[in-house]
Amino acid sequence: MVVLSESVRFFAVHDDGYFDERVAARYDESSADMFDPAMLDPVVDFLAQLAGDGRALELGIGTGRVALPLAQRGVPVHGIDLSQSMVAKLREKSGAEAIDVTIGDFATTTVEGTFSVAYLVFNTIGNLTTQAAQVACFRNVAEHLEPGGCFVIELHVPELQRLPPGETMRVFHASPTHWGIDEFDIANQGLTSHHFELVDGRFELLSIPFRYVWPAELDLMAQLAGMRLRERWSGWKREPFTSESTKHVSVWEKPPT
Ligand SMILES: C[S@@+](CC[C@H](N)C(=O)[O-])C[C@H]1O[C@@H](n2cnc3c(N)ncnc32)[C@H](O)[C@@H]1O
Repeated sequence: MVVLSESVRFFAVHDDGYFDERVAARYDESSADMFDPAMLDPVVDFLAQLAGDGRALELGIGTGRVALPLAQRGVPVHGIDLSQSMVAKLREKSGAEAIDVTIGDFATTTVEGTFSVAYLVFNTIGNLTTQAAQVACFRNVAEHLEPGGCFVIELHVPELQRLPPGETMRVFHASPTHWGIDEFDIANQGLTSHHFELVDGRFELLSIPFRYVWPAELDLMAQLAGMRLRERWSGWKREPFTSESTKHVSVWEKPPT
């Protein structure tokens, strides 16, 4: 840990990536709105329907926000995550014993068997910060899918329309306990999300790098991996995807043999 000043602390990255013990300890609480059944039930409905009688692979399973309710619907779930700390939090929860997890990078890690659906939600494809890694991720998924199987991604549409010319910073969250500022590096399609959070009376800074990516580029990655776009929505209840949509839920299919 590096102390920047009396009121701001910066935490260094270690083997868990950016989701270390400190982040894992607060993850569920700080993402409480994402655990709300009103938000989560449509996600689980959507994925359970695609899974059918098959198995599901979650890339970046984290603390099991989606995997646990999906497994409770009777879908066998296997997760991949590089953060032992996040997975330790999953392991504390009831129902986790039904879920297998492999620790590793989801762009390259392989697991046994095939899946009818693989999914990567909550903007997590952006945690792969190079185009090569994102392409590798699509290829890795395609190798794990059964013929006819689907890959689902939930991701923001890059918010460049909201960035005035010449500016690089955009506040995406402002509250007395949490300030979130996105810093764009447009030439490199990079985005760093800076989170200033009030913890025990002091602001702590966590800065996470992302590679932002447009839907069309993802379609090309899918094509390179031998998949094709099947559906694109702006939400899990299959709301239409339009020019005003701020996020998308996209489904690519591995062709049936
Ligand atoms: C925003 S959390 C999402 C967790 C869970 N999917 C959810 O929706 O709550 C992102 C997760 O992806 C994991 N992750 C990020 N990059 C990864 C990578 N390259 N390989 C494996 N896991 C990764 C992090 O450790 C973290 O647990």
